[in-house]
Formats: sequence, structure tokens, C-alpha cells
Amino acid sequence: MSLVDPFNRTIEYLRISVTDRCNLHCLYCVPQGDIPKLKHEEILRYEEILRIVRVGIALGIKKVRVTGGEPLVRKGIIHFLNALSSLEGLKDLAITTNGVLLKHNLAEIRDAGINRLNISLDTLRNDRFKFISGVDKLDDVLEAIQLAEKLGFSPIKLNMVVMKNVNEDEIEAFARLSLDKPYHIRFIEYMPMGSRPGHVNPGHIPTKQIKEMVQKISPLERILRQRHDGPAERYRLKGARGEIGFISPMTNHFCNSCNRLRLTAEGHIRPCLLSDRELDVKTALRNGANDEDLAELLRKATSFKPKAHSLIPKESSLLYPGEMSTIGG
Ligand code: GTP
Ligand code: 5AD
Repeated sequence: MSLVDPFNRTIEYLRISVTDRCNLHCLYCVPQGDIPKLKHEEILRYEEILRIVRVGIALGIKKVRVTGGEPLVRKGIIHFLNALSSLEGLKDLAITTNGVLLKHNLAEIRDAGINRLNISLDTLRNDRFKFISGVDKLDDVLEAIQLAEKLGFSPIKLNMVVMKNVNEDEIEAFARLSLDKPYHIRFIEYMPMGSRPGHVNPGHIPTKQIKEMVQKISPLERILRQRHDGPAERYRLKGARGEIGFISPMTNHFCNSCNRLRLTAEGHIRPCLLSDRELDVKTALRNGANDEDLAELLRKATSFKPKAHSLIPKESSLLYPGEMSTIGG
């Protein structure tokens, strides 16, 4: 009954993008400008998402991550998180957010039974935050992170997308945060995505190089992966409270252990982040599909999972045209 793809990977992790909208305009993701947004009726309703998740759970989905756009900009999100968290069979429910609206929602997120937070944070400098994201909101994010710690969220993962000539000089400062704070600092190799005008595609810094910079602080000790871990290789700086993670989609892709499907905001199942092949479940749902029909669509999407993505690190001109903002990372 489980979802197993042609390369014998078992699918247990569903990433749900609840909206394509975002309150930031990061230069590598949704740059400022006239970007067409999905219309209200084009977006899956929460009840529709819940139906798909229920069917997914029956097929072995154990972990769900809610993403966007920015998930906290969608109306009714807390109610939806509550509904998700009360689904039987789900072992792990988490959210990835840019953190800007988080401080207003943390208590309710916790009360919905969510304990795991991934926060996208590419810089610790106010001017640079404004440069990257278009808004001056770093302090709101930092405040939310501190409050999350006080409220007992664990783990709190901070995702830094490392970009050449943009924020690489902050690698050490981020790594040092893990010494005194229980945060999981994750260095992510930038993937060249997006082809809209205004989109900036800075290069990536290979994990090997990032690791060398981090190791100047103190030696890195390896932490064993847990069963439902995502793509990060986990380490700890000697004596640190927190962790360091490396996510290397460019230099050491983790496709052979990929265990996920994505549900896009417009209701398509996307078997691979970096392939445009999607299956439209929304139309099926709205045309009266029953649960077995939906299960069949999930099985079919699983059968489309490519063996590996095709972004090649050396060919920096190779750009994946899909837009991260609508897929949710
Ligand atoms: P946990 O380990 O469960 O905390 O989550 P995660 O690392 O899977 O989720 P998160 O949303 O924090 O994503 C971290 C980074 O991994 C982002 O840059 C994602 O784009 C990248 N990522 C997640 N899934 C995939 C994938 O299927 N393929 C590739 N190439 N990158 C991915
Ligand atoms: N390359 C790598 N990571 C990215 N993210 C967004 N765009 C990219 C990219 N081009 C990250 C975000 C977020 C996560 C879900 O994906 O920073 O933390």
C-alpha cells in the first residue's frame, strides 16, 4: 500500500505549498514587479488539501511540511494547521516560513501541536536583509526566533541560502550562532532557479568550501541522521548547543534518498522540485474524484519521479526555469 517509486525510494514526506504569495521579494525568488498571482479559486481550498493528505497518509505519508510562498500570509492558516495536526497517522508536522509574521502566530502554532520550525534567514544585517528581500524586517524575524526559543519550539532550523558575493561573508557569524543557541544553522547551496525578469541568480558556494570556513571556528562533529530527516548532513561544532547542517543540492545531490512529493498551491502533485512534470489533482478533485482515484494519482505521480535532478554545478549558465515561490522550496 505504500508509495514506492521506480528507483525503490519510499515516499513518506509531503511538502504542501499553501500559497504562491509572499510578503518578501527576495532577489533570487520573487523579485519585485508585476508577477501574476494565482486567483483565489485557482488555489486549493484547505478542505481539498486535507483530503489529499488523508489519502496520502493511507499510502504511507508520515511527514508533512507546510510551505508557500509564505504560508503565514494565507488567511485561516492556523485553523488549517490545527486540522492537519489532528489527522491520525501523521508523525511529523512542520512549517517553513520567512519568519516575518511569525511572532504574531507562534503561540497558536504551538497550540496547534507544531513544534518544529524552519525559518529562512539569509543575513543577520539589516541593510542586507532589505537588499535581499526588499523590506526592512530583519528585527521582526530575530524577535520571532527568540520568542520561539522561549516558547520551547525544537528544533528551530535557520536556513541560510549561501550566495556568492551576496552573503558568503556571514557564514562564520551564522555558524557561531549555534555555539550559544540551540538553533540548527543550515547552509544551503543556492540552486539557480527562476527565469522571470528581475530575477538575480547569484552563484552557489560549494559545501566543501563552507565547511572549511566553519571548521576554522572549531572541529565539526558528525551527528547521525534520523529516519525522517530531510536533506541536511548534520554536524555540531565542538561544545555547541546547536547544530550545523549542510544542504548540498548542487555538489552532492541527495536525490537517491529523496522521499518526497510536493503539492503545489494550485493543486498539482509535483514529484521533483526540479522537474516541471506535475499531475493535476485539483481538477480531479473538483470533478468528483473518490479517494481511490486520488490515491491512483498519488501513485502515478510517484511513478514519474526522476532518478535525479539535472542542475550541473559547473555549468553556472544552466538555469532551471521553474519558480521557487510557487513550489515552496
Ligand atoms: P527538515 O530536514 O525536515 O527540517 O526539512 P527540509 O530540509 O526538507 O526542509 P526545508 O523547507 O527547510 O528545505 C531546506 C532546503 O532543502 C531548501 O533549500 C529546499 O529547497 C531544499 N530541498 C528540500 N527538498 C528538496 C528536494 O526535493 N530537492 C532539492 N534539490 N532540494 C530540496
Ligand atoms: N536555492 C536553494 N534554496 C532555496 N530556497 C529558496 N530558493 C532557493 C534556491 N534557489 C530555500 C529558502 C527556504 C527553503 C524552503 O528553500 O530559503 O528556506
